[in-house]
Amino acid sequence: KLSGYEAWLRYDKVKDDQLAAQYQAWTATIAAGSYKQASPIASAINELQLALPKLIGITPQVVIEPSVKQFLAIGVVGSSAYLDESLIGPMAALSHNEGYVLKTITKDEQSYLAIAGASEQAVLYGVFHLLRLMAQGESIDAISLSEQPKYNLRMINHWDNMDGSIERGYAGRSIFFNKNELLADSPRIVDYARLMASIGINGMTINNVNVHRPETFLITEKLLPQVAKFAAVFRSYGIKLFLCVNYAATIELGEVETADPLDARVKEWWKQKAKEVYAAIPDFGGFVVKADSENRPGPFTYGRDHADGANMLGEALKPFGGLVFWRCFVYNCHQDWRDRSTDRARAAYDHFKPLDGRFLDNVILQIKNGPMDFQVREPVSPLFGAMPNTNAVMEFQITQEYTGQQRHVCYLIPQWKEVLEFDTKVKGEGSTVKEIAAGNIHPYTHSGITAVTNIGDDANWTGHHLAQSNLYGYGRLLWNPDLSSEDIAAEWARLTFSESAVVQQMLVDFLMESWSIYESYTSPLGVGWMVTPHYHYGPDIDGYEYSKWGTYHFADHKGIGVNRTVASGTGYTSQYQPDIAAVYENLETCPDELLLFFHHVPYTHVLHSGKTVIQHIYDTHFQGVERVEYWISRWQQLEGEVDAERYNHILGRLQHQLENSKDWRDIINTYFYRKSGIADEQGRTIY
Ligand code: GCU
Repeated sequence: KLSGYEAWLRYDKVKDDQLAAQYQAWTATIAAGSYKQASPIASAINELQLALPKLIGITPQVVIEPSVKQFLAIGVVGSSAYLDESLIGPMAALSHNEGYVLKTITKDEQSYLAIAGASEQAVLYGVFHLLRLMAQGESIDAISLSEQPKYNLRMINHWDNMDGSIERGYAGRSIFFNKNELLADSPRIVDYARLMASIGINGMTINNVNVHRPETFLITEKLLPQVAKFAAVFRSYGIKLFLCVNYAATIELGEVETADPLDARVKEWWKQKAKEVYAAIPDFGGFVVKADSENRPGPFTYGRDHADGANMLGEALKPFGGLVFWRCFVYNCHQDWRDRSTDRARAAYDHFKPLDGRFLDNVILQIKNGPMDFQVREPVSPLFGAMPNTNAVMEFQITQEYTGQQRHVCYLIPQWKEVLEFDTKVKGEGSTVKEIAAGNIHPYTHSGITAVTNIGDDANWTGHHLAQSNLYGYGRLLWNPDLSSEDIAAEWARLTFSESAVVQQMLVDFLMESWSIYESYTSPLGVGWMVTPHYHYGPDIDGYEYSKWGTYHFADHKGIGVNRTVASGTGYTSQYQPDIAAVYENLETCPDELLLFFHHVPYTHVLHSGKTVIQHIYDTHFQGVERVEYWISRWQQLEGEVDAERYNHILGRLQHQLENSKDWRDIINTYFYRKSGIADEQGRTIY
């Protein structure tokens, strides 16, 4: 296998002999009771059998009744005498069906390490936890811990098309599809499921939210048997399979000539469809829908609203326990830049907020983290938390569409943590996104987090080796959002670059700075965009400025930024709670990093930092490039400390990042120098 394929499941040999001996003593014999083939417990045992030979050079013996003095006992709580609740103890984790306990226990003459889960899936999570400890060289001699996930829905969305391409994919082609066929027997699917289960992912869509004609057929007789094969692999790893559906499938498949959600024939068709899907996949998760968005069909065509559309599907799935994820990425994508009253940032809130309370309880609104579209910096979507009577999940983007497309290093965990820590105040202080998504602020029936993933069929899954950290961190954050970005990076680095502590430390330090570096040489102060249209890579300041997409920066010779105030702009700020609205509305209090998102200001406007906007632009753009140069020199000091393949691959990407960051620097600086006519205080070269 090529370098990087194992990602964080490398299981490199434990170098410390004492630790290796300790691990051997606990794991050479595994008491697992009886279990079914292709179940999460079978997957857990499989993982131990795969990992232990690599980590500590032993092949464990799996038994029902161990006669040895020391062993590992795994299973659902109460499934054997070793895992009796009286021994495990009443741990909070076990009240959550995905919670588990790891505990060393001595009973009679025997000592064992118990991995007791509230469910089979939880046992699998517990085993991955143990392996993570071992791969990081932690002692497991006296262990007593319990874990449960913060979020119930921990989803991954693929934007894979059946022709094998991936929308906004930067790591090769689809692992699920090729030439309109399903790669249902690909061994890679199992390895992918292992990676996802190891970070606690429990739900997944495999096809793009933009459902074209071929993917519309995924829910038909013709393709369901193959979809069911994916579902079977995922099932054994505790992951539910979902599909994105075409809102107008009735029309596309030639079954009913309308997709009016209130038409009885349309309703009936979806009910039958749900029956068929569940006959093929009894534990099918449900549908994800992009409707009335970027030219996709939806209920608006029939004069209906989004509650009508979502509920029509919700009703069909309800008898089977299925869910509908209904995306809120709905905005006018046929705008005129002269029209200053229409504001794309307002759209999701304006469309959905009035519908609160109208959605069925198996419908979940899927809301992007920011009001625009996964920019390097955006405020938190004001829609999140604004609908107390409607289930919601937050949608992040792991694939680096606007953050360097896996050619630049941009560790996104700090960005997501800022979003999660944001206090919306919708129910007073402490109404953080973190708690809303957990269903702790409004009593949602379903909630959690989802994200567009960054993997493809590249040998290392993510294109850039370092982009693996975003996928790893995403899962870890959904399990426990209180982990720090730094701790997650360190954990990932130890698991993935186990060779050398120096390498690990360098990577952690670099990852922690990388978002700020990327932000510094791209679009300034929260204004966003300025990217090459369609591709969204590299600078093109006016690329979208006169287009229909509603993504303007309004730079002219006097100033820059979008006036979203109530006082004189689009009024977007009013979508936040009054305290927060006031902070953004007021130039004095609006944070620098979002200044141009909320205000149009002259280039001479002085920031809280004491610099003018124009000088800030120059300084950050020169510094951004210097910072990339600095990290390249740090990486170059590590030659020989990390395997040559990964060393060279990363170096190559860093050198490209440097070249591209220079483009950004020069194009941005030149543009704003020309527009403003104001020279750089330090007289640096501006082309
Ligand atoms: C972005 C992205 C599209 C995607 C869309 C979505 O606009 O560029 O490729 O389809 O988001 O989230 O639906």
